[in-house]
Amino acid sequence: MKLYVDLGKNSYPVYIENHILKEADKYIAKVFTGKKIMVVSDDNVYPLYGEELRAALSEQYECYSLVLPHGEATKSFQSLPAIYSALLEVRLSRSDLVIALGGGVIGDLAGFAAASYLRGIKFIQIPTSLLAQVDSSVGGKVAVDLPQGKNLIGAFFQPSLVLIDPLVLNTLPGRFINDGMGEIIKYGCIKDKDLFAALEKHGSFDDLKEELPEIICRCVDIKRAVVEADQFDRGERMLLNFGHTLAHTIEQYYHYERESHGEAVAIGMYQITKTAEEKGLTHAGEAERIRKVLDSYGLPHSCGLPLKELTGAITLDKKNLDGNLNVVLLHEIGDSYVYPASDSFFADKNKHQII
Ligand SMILES: NC(=O)c1ccc[n+]([C@@H]2O[C@H](COP(=O)([O-])OP(=O)(O)OC[C@H]3O[C@@H](n4cnc5c(N)ncnc54)[C@H](O)[C@@H]3O)[C@@H](O)[C@H]2O)c1
Repeated sequence: MKLYVDLGKNSYPVYIENHILKEADKYIAKVFTGKKIMVVSDDNVYPLYGEELRAALSEQYECYSLVLPHGEATKSFQSLPAIYSALLEVRLSRSDLVIALGGGVIGDLAGFAAASYLRGIKFIQIPTSLLAQVDSSVGGKVAVDLPQGKNLIGAFFQPSLVLIDPLVLNTLPGRFINDGMGEIIKYGCIKDKDLFAALEKHGSFDDLKEELPEIICRCVDIKRAVVEADQFDRGERMLLNFGHTLAHTIEQYYHYERESHGEAVAIGMYQITKTAEEKGLTHAGEAERIRKVLDSYGLPHSCGLPLKELTGAITLDKKNLDGNLNVVLLHEIGDSYVYPASDSFFADKNKHQII
Protein backbone atom coordinates (compact mmCIF):
# COMPACT_ATOMS: atom_id res chain seq x y z
CA MET A 1 0.00 0.00 0.00
CA LYS A 2 1.27 3.42 -0.87
CA LEU A 3 0.12 6.83 0.29
CA TYR A 4 1.50 10.15 -0.82
CA VAL A 5 1.70 13.12 1.54
CA ASP A 6 1.26 16.07 -0.79
CA LEU A 7 3.04 19.09 0.68
CA GLY A 8 4.50 20.71 -2.41
CA LYS A 9 8.28 20.54 -2.31
CA ASN A 10 8.05 18.74 1.06
CA SER A 11 5.96 15.84 -0.34
CA TYR A 12 6.84 12.22 0.33
CA PRO A 13 5.54 8.67 -0.05
CA VAL A 14 4.55 6.34 2.78
CA TYR A 15 4.72 2.59 2.07
CA ILE A 16 2.96 0.08 4.30
CA GLU A 17 3.86 -3.57 3.61
CA ASN A 18 4.68 -6.65 5.62
CA HIS A 19 8.42 -7.51 5.13
CA ILE A 20 9.24 -4.08 3.69
CA LEU A 21 12.21 -3.78 6.06
CA LYS A 22 14.09 -6.46 4.11
CA GLU A 23 13.69 -4.44 0.94
CA ALA A 24 14.27 -1.02 2.43
CA ASP A 25 17.24 -0.38 0.11
CA LYS A 26 14.98 -0.52 -2.97
CA TYR A 27 12.67 2.15 -1.61
CA ILE A 28 15.45 4.30 -0.20
CA ALA A 29 17.28 4.30 -3.53
CA LYS A 30 14.23 6.04 -5.07
CA VAL A 31 14.63 9.09 -2.83
CA PHE A 32 18.32 9.13 -1.89
CA THR A 33 21.29 9.30 -4.23
CA GLY A 34 23.98 10.20 -1.70
CA LYS A 35 26.64 8.00 -0.16
CA LYS A 36 26.50 7.87 3.64
CA ILE A 37 23.68 6.84 5.96
CA MET A 38 23.48 7.12 9.75
CA VAL A 39 20.86 4.78 11.23
CA VAL A 40 19.71 6.11 14.61
CA SER A 41 17.95 3.56 16.80
CA ASP A 42 17.51 2.44 20.40
CA ASP A 43 18.90 -0.51 22.32
CA ASN A 44 15.63 -2.47 22.11
CA VAL A 45 14.98 -2.01 18.42
CA TYR A 46 18.49 -2.10 16.95
CA PRO A 47 19.32 -5.65 18.12
CA LEU A 48 16.03 -6.84 16.59
CA TYR A 49 16.05 -5.03 13.24
CA GLY A 50 19.14 -2.86 12.93
CA GLU A 51 21.57 -5.37 11.46
CA GLU A 52 18.96 -6.57 8.98
CA LEU A 53 18.46 -2.99 7.80
CA ARG A 54 22.18 -2.29 7.63
CA ALA A 55 22.74 -5.50 5.70
CA ALA A 56 20.13 -4.38 3.15
CA LEU A 57 21.77 -0.94 2.85
CA SER A 58 25.45 -1.81 3.00
CA GLU A 59 25.74 -3.00 -0.61
CA GLN A 60 24.90 0.43 -1.96
CA TYR A 61 25.82 2.81 0.85
CA GLU A 62 28.40 3.53 3.48
CA CYS A 63 26.27 2.78 6.51
CA TYR A 64 26.77 3.72 10.20
CA SER A 65 24.63 3.31 13.28
CA LEU A 66 24.05 5.13 16.53
CA VAL A 67 22.25 3.14 19.21
CA LEU A 68 20.78 5.11 22.12
CA PRO A 69 19.15 3.97 25.35
CA HIS A 70 15.42 3.32 24.93
CA GLY A 71 12.79 5.48 26.62
CA GLU A 72 11.54 9.04 26.77
CA ALA A 73 14.57 10.25 28.77
CA THR A 74 16.64 9.84 25.60
CA LYS A 75 14.45 12.41 23.80
CA SER A 76 16.12 15.10 25.82
CA PHE A 77 17.75 18.28 24.58
CA GLN A 78 20.86 16.98 26.30
CA SER A 79 21.09 14.00 23.95
CA LEU A 80 21.70 16.27 20.98
CA PRO A 81 25.43 17.04 21.30
CA ALA A 82 26.31 13.34 21.29
CA ILE A 83 24.19 12.82 18.17
CA TYR A 84 25.77 15.77 16.34
CA SER A 85 29.21 14.45 17.36
CA ALA A 86 28.42 11.02 15.95
CA LEU A 87 27.29 12.60 12.65
CA LEU A 88 30.41 14.76 12.50
CA GLU A 89 32.70 11.88 13.37
CA VAL A 90 31.70 10.02 10.22
CA ARG A 91 31.63 13.31 8.28
CA LEU A 92 28.00 13.15 7.28
CA SER A 93 27.46 15.95 4.78
CA ARG A 94 24.35 17.76 3.58
CA SER A 95 23.95 15.28 0.74
CA ASP A 96 23.84 12.32 3.16
CA LEU A 97 20.98 10.76 5.11
CA VAL A 98 19.73 10.07 8.64
CA ILE A 99 17.33 7.15 9.17
CA ALA A 100 15.23 6.89 12.34
CA LEU A 101 14.62 3.21 13.12
CA GLY A 102 12.46 3.00 16.23
CA GLY A 103 9.42 4.34 18.04
CA GLY A 104 8.30 7.92 18.45
CA VAL A 105 11.20 8.77 20.74
CA ILE A 106 13.81 7.93 18.12
CA GLY A 107 11.72 9.43 15.31
CA ASP A 108 11.28 12.77 17.08
CA LEU A 109 14.88 12.94 18.31
CA ALA A 110 16.67 11.79 15.15
CA GLY A 111 14.26 13.97 13.16
CA PHE A 112 15.16 17.05 15.17
CA ALA A 113 18.87 16.24 14.89
CA ALA A 114 18.46 15.87 11.10
CA ALA A 115 16.48 19.13 10.91
CA SER A 116 19.18 21.09 12.70
CA TYR A 117 22.45 19.41 11.69
CA LEU A 118 24.08 21.52 8.95
CA ARG A 119 20.73 23.37 8.75
CA GLY A 120 18.97 20.20 7.72
CA ILE A 121 19.90 16.93 6.04
CA LYS A 122 17.72 14.29 4.44
CA PHE A 123 15.73 12.16 6.82
CA ILE A 124 13.77 8.89 6.53
CA GLN A 125 11.42 7.38 9.10
CA ILE A 126 11.20 3.61 9.66
CA PRO A 127 8.76 3.52 12.60
CA THR A 128 8.68 0.34 14.67
CA SER A 129 6.07 1.04 17.37
CA LEU A 130 2.35 1.09 16.62
CA LEU A 131 2.13 4.71 17.79
CA ALA A 132 4.98 5.75 15.53
CA GLN A 133 3.49 3.83 12.57
CA VAL A 134 0.03 5.39 12.81
CA ASP A 135 1.00 8.81 14.10
CA SER A 136 4.41 10.26 14.87
CA SER A 137 6.35 9.19 11.75
CA VAL A 138 4.03 11.13 9.44
CA GLY A 139 3.47 14.86 9.57
CA GLY A 140 6.94 16.26 10.15
CA LYS A 141 6.73 17.27 13.79
CA VAL A 142 10.12 16.58 15.35
CA ALA A 143 11.14 17.61 18.84
CA VAL A 144 13.12 17.14 22.01
CA ASP A 145 12.11 17.63 25.63
CA LEU A 146 13.37 20.19 28.14
CA PRO A 147 13.26 19.74 31.91
CA GLN A 148 10.38 22.28 31.86
CA GLY A 149 8.22 20.19 29.57
CA LYS A 150 7.89 17.79 26.66
CA ASN A 151 8.42 18.75 23.02
CA LEU A 152 9.28 22.34 23.89
CA ILE A 153 12.11 22.50 21.34
CA GLY A 154 11.18 21.31 17.89
CA ALA A 155 10.64 21.93 14.22
CA PHE A 156 8.42 21.07 11.31
CA PHE A 157 10.69 18.89 9.21
CA GLN A 158 9.13 16.40 6.83
CA PRO A 159 10.85 13.09 6.12
CA SER A 160 11.69 12.14 2.54
CA LEU A 161 10.12 8.71 2.94
CA VAL A 162 8.28 6.62 5.55
CA LEU A 163 8.57 2.81 5.47
CA ILE A 164 6.10 0.91 7.65
CA ASP A 165 6.50 -2.81 8.24
CA PRO A 166 3.57 -4.00 10.39
CA LEU A 167 5.38 -7.30 11.10
CA VAL A 168 7.86 -5.58 13.42
CA LEU A 169 4.96 -5.08 15.81
CA ASN A 170 5.21 -8.80 16.66
CA THR A 171 8.01 -7.91 19.07
CA LEU A 172 6.43 -4.76 20.51
CA PRO A 173 5.49 -5.22 24.20
CA GLY A 174 1.75 -5.27 24.95
CA ARG A 175 1.66 -1.97 26.80
CA PHE A 176 2.96 -0.16 23.73
CA ILE A 177 0.45 -1.98 21.52
CA ASN A 178 -2.27 -0.57 23.79
CA ASP A 179 -0.72 2.89 23.48
CA GLY A 180 -0.91 2.74 19.71
CA MET A 181 -4.46 1.40 19.89
CA GLY A 182 -5.37 4.57 21.80
CA GLU A 183 -4.30 6.62 18.78
CA ILE A 184 -6.14 4.33 16.37
CA ILE A 185 -9.33 4.70 18.43
CA LYS A 186 -8.71 8.47 18.35
CA TYR A 187 -8.65 8.46 14.53
CA GLY A 188 -11.95 6.59 14.50
CA CYS A 189 -13.45 9.12 16.91
CA ILE A 190 -12.33 12.25 15.08
CA LYS A 191 -12.66 11.26 11.43
CA ASP A 192 -13.80 7.76 10.61
CA LYS A 193 -16.94 6.16 12.03
CA ASP A 194 -16.38 3.03 9.91
CA LEU A 195 -12.94 2.54 11.43
CA PHE A 196 -14.48 2.97 14.87
CA ALA A 197 -17.18 0.41 14.01
CA ALA A 198 -14.49 -2.02 12.79
CA LEU A 199 -12.69 -1.63 16.13
CA GLU A 200 -15.95 -2.30 17.96
CA LYS A 201 -16.51 -5.40 15.85
CA HIS A 202 -13.03 -6.89 16.34
CA GLY A 203 -12.97 -6.35 20.06
CA SER A 204 -9.28 -7.14 20.63
CA PHE A 205 -5.86 -6.48 19.09
CA ASP A 206 -5.30 -10.17 18.31
CA ASP A 207 -8.57 -10.27 16.44
CA LEU A 208 -7.70 -7.35 14.17
CA LYS A 209 -4.11 -8.43 13.47
CA GLU A 210 -4.86 -9.76 10.01
CA GLU A 211 -6.32 -6.43 9.01
CA LEU A 212 -3.53 -4.46 10.62
CA PRO A 213 -1.83 -3.19 7.44
CA GLU A 214 -5.20 -1.82 6.21
CA ILE A 215 -5.97 -0.28 9.59
CA ILE A 216 -2.54 1.37 9.78
CA CYS A 217 -3.05 2.63 6.24
CA ARG A 218 -6.41 4.15 7.14
CA CYS A 219 -4.91 5.95 10.12
CA VAL A 220 -1.96 7.27 8.13
CA ASP A 221 -4.38 8.39 5.44
CA ILE A 222 -6.38 10.39 7.99
CA LYS A 223 -3.19 11.95 9.34
CA ARG A 224 -2.07 12.65 5.75
CA ALA A 225 -5.26 14.54 4.98
CA VAL A 226 -5.15 16.56 8.20
CA VAL A 227 -1.46 17.44 7.73
CA GLU A 228 -2.02 18.40 4.09
CA ALA A 229 -4.79 20.75 5.19
CA ASP A 230 -2.70 22.28 7.98
CA GLN A 231 1.00 21.49 7.76
CA PHE A 232 1.98 23.99 10.46
CA ASP A 233 -0.68 23.22 13.05
CA ARG A 234 -2.75 26.37 12.88
CA GLY A 235 -6.24 24.90 12.69
CA GLU A 236 -7.46 21.54 11.37
CA ARG A 237 -4.46 19.69 12.78
CA MET A 238 -5.67 20.51 16.26
CA LEU A 239 -8.30 17.77 15.80
CA LEU A 240 -5.47 15.27 16.28
CA ASN A 241 -5.29 16.51 19.87
CA PHE A 242 -8.61 14.94 20.79
CA GLY A 243 -8.25 13.77 24.39
CA HIS A 244 -4.85 15.42 24.74
CA THR A 245 -5.62 18.41 26.97
CA LEU A 246 -6.68 16.20 29.83
CA ALA A 247 -4.05 13.63 28.90
CA HIS A 248 -1.19 16.13 29.29
CA THR A 249 -2.62 17.21 32.60
CA ILE A 250 -2.82 13.63 33.87
CA GLU A 251 0.70 12.84 32.65
CA GLN A 252 2.10 15.93 34.34
CA TYR A 253 0.19 15.30 37.54
CA TYR A 254 1.81 11.88 37.82
CA HIS A 255 5.19 13.13 36.52
CA TYR A 256 4.94 10.83 33.49
CA GLU A 257 5.46 7.87 35.79
CA ARG A 258 2.05 6.26 35.95
CA GLU A 259 -0.18 6.47 32.87
CA SER A 260 1.54 6.05 29.53
CA HIS A 261 0.68 8.67 26.91
CA GLY A 262 -1.79 6.34 25.19
CA GLU A 263 -3.49 5.53 28.48
CA ALA A 264 -3.73 9.21 29.37
CA VAL A 265 -5.19 10.00 25.93
CA ALA A 266 -7.71 7.19 26.41
CA ILE A 267 -8.87 8.70 29.70
CA GLY A 268 -8.92 12.15 28.12
CA MET A 269 -11.06 11.03 25.15
CA TYR A 270 -13.66 9.38 27.37
CA GLN A 271 -13.80 12.07 30.06
CA ILE A 272 -13.97 15.02 27.65
CA THR A 273 -16.73 13.29 25.67
CA LYS A 274 -18.66 12.50 28.82
CA THR A 275 -18.43 16.13 29.93
CA ALA A 276 -19.39 17.35 26.44
CA GLU A 277 -22.41 15.05 26.48
CA GLU A 278 -23.51 16.51 29.81
CA LYS A 279 -23.25 19.99 28.26
CA GLY A 280 -25.20 18.95 25.16
CA LEU A 281 -22.13 19.42 22.94
CA THR A 282 -21.90 15.75 21.87
CA HIS A 283 -24.66 13.28 20.89
CA ALA A 284 -25.74 11.20 23.87
CA GLY A 285 -24.30 7.68 24.04
CA GLU A 286 -20.94 8.31 22.34
CA ALA A 287 -18.92 8.37 25.59
CA GLU A 288 -20.25 4.92 26.43
CA ARG A 289 -19.24 3.55 23.02
CA ILE A 290 -15.75 4.99 23.56
CA ARG A 291 -15.56 3.45 27.04
CA LYS A 292 -16.43 0.00 25.70
CA VAL A 293 -13.86 0.17 22.92
CA LEU A 294 -11.17 1.38 25.32
CA ASP A 295 -11.98 -1.54 27.61
CA SER A 296 -11.67 -4.10 24.88
CA TYR A 297 -8.25 -2.79 23.80
CA GLY A 298 -6.85 -2.78 27.31
CA LEU A 299 -7.08 0.97 27.88
CA PRO A 300 -8.37 2.82 30.95
CA HIS A 301 -11.12 5.45 30.96
CA SER A 302 -10.46 6.87 34.42
CA CYS A 303 -7.43 7.63 36.56
CA GLY A 304 -9.32 7.65 39.83
CA LEU A 305 -8.64 11.27 40.82
CA PRO A 306 -11.14 13.89 41.93
CA LEU A 307 -11.52 16.53 39.22
CA LYS A 308 -10.32 19.31 41.50
CA GLU A 309 -6.88 17.72 41.67
CA LEU A 310 -6.51 17.90 37.92
CA THR A 311 -8.01 21.24 36.95
CA GLY A 312 -5.37 23.07 38.96
CA ALA A 313 -2.71 21.18 37.09
CA ILE A 314 -3.32 22.41 33.54
CA THR A 315 0.13 23.97 33.38
CA LEU A 316 2.92 24.58 30.95
CA ASP A 317 1.33 22.99 27.95
CA LYS A 318 2.47 25.11 25.02
CA LYS A 319 -1.02 24.90 23.53
CA ASN A 320 -2.36 26.74 26.58
CA LEU A 321 0.33 29.36 26.89
CA ASP A 322 -1.94 32.19 25.73
CA GLY A 323 -4.51 31.36 28.42
CA ASN A 324 -7.07 30.03 25.93
CA LEU A 325 -8.08 26.43 26.02
CA ASN A 326 -9.35 24.98 22.76
CA VAL A 327 -10.80 21.56 23.30
CA VAL A 328 -11.53 19.04 20.58
CA LEU A 329 -15.01 17.58 20.88
CA LEU A 330 -17.13 15.18 18.86
CA HIS A 331 -20.50 16.03 17.36
CA GLU A 332 -20.66 12.26 17.13
CA ILE A 333 -18.14 9.48 16.56
CA GLY A 334 -16.33 10.18 13.28
CA ASP A 335 -17.14 13.91 13.32
CA SER A 336 -14.98 16.22 15.45
CA TYR A 337 -14.72 19.97 15.96
CA VAL A 338 -12.69 22.52 17.88
CA TYR A 339 -14.59 24.14 20.72
CA PRO A 340 -13.14 27.38 22.09
CA ALA A 341 -13.42 26.83 25.82
CA SER A 342 -11.61 28.40 28.70
CA ASP A 343 -10.03 26.90 31.79
CA SER A 344 -13.57 26.94 33.15
CA PHE A 345 -14.75 24.15 30.81
CA PHE A 346 -14.89 21.85 33.80
CA ALA A 347 -15.91 24.57 36.26
CA ASP A 348 -19.58 23.67 36.53
CA LYS A 349 -18.81 20.05 37.27
CA ASN A 350 -18.76 18.59 40.75
CA LYS A 351 -15.17 19.05 41.89
CA HIS A 352 -15.31 15.76 43.77
CA GLN A 353 -16.26 13.84 40.68
CA ILE A 354 -13.71 11.18 39.88
CA ILE A 355 -12.00 11.51 36.53
N1 LIG B 1 5.99 13.74 16.21
C1 LIG B 1 4.73 13.49 16.43
O1 LIG B 1 3.85 13.89 15.69
C2 LIG B 1 4.37 12.66 17.63
C3 LIG B 1 3.07 12.17 17.79
C4 LIG B 1 2.79 11.36 18.88
C5 LIG B 1 3.79 11.03 19.78
N2 LIG B 1 5.04 11.52 19.59
C6 LIG B 1 6.13 11.18 20.52
O2 LIG B 1 6.37 9.79 20.43
C7 LIG B 1 6.99 9.36 21.63
C8 LIG B 1 6.37 8.05 22.06
O3 LIG B 1 6.55 7.11 21.03
P1 LIG B 1 6.51 5.54 21.32
O4 LIG B 1 5.32 5.21 22.10
O5 LIG B 1 6.78 4.85 20.04
O6 LIG B 1 7.71 5.37 22.36
P2 LIG B 1 9.17 4.74 22.24
O7 LIG B 1 9.89 5.25 21.05
O8 LIG B 1 9.78 4.91 23.56
O9 LIG B 1 8.85 3.20 21.97
C9 LIG B 1 8.20 2.45 22.94
C10 LIG B 1 9.05 1.28 23.44
O10 LIG B 1 8.96 0.23 22.51
C11 LIG B 1 10.25 -0.19 22.10
N3 LIG B 1 10.07 -0.63 20.72
C12 LIG B 1 9.74 0.14 19.65
N4 LIG B 1 9.53 -0.63 18.58
C13 LIG B 1 9.71 -1.91 18.98
C14 LIG B 1 9.60 -3.17 18.33
N5 LIG B 1 9.20 -3.28 17.06
N6 LIG B 1 9.89 -4.27 19.05
C15 LIG B 1 10.26 -4.19 20.37
N7 LIG B 1 10.35 -3.04 21.04
C16 LIG B 1 10.07 -1.91 20.35
C17 LIG B 1 11.14 0.99 22.33
O11 LIG B 1 12.48 0.60 22.52
C18 LIG B 1 10.54 1.58 23.61
O12 LIG B 1 11.02 0.89 24.72
C19 LIG B 1 6.80 10.47 22.64
O13 LIG B 1 8.03 11.12 22.86
C20 LIG B 1 5.83 11.42 21.96
O14 LIG B 1 6.04 12.77 22.33
C21 LIG B 1 5.35 12.32 18.53
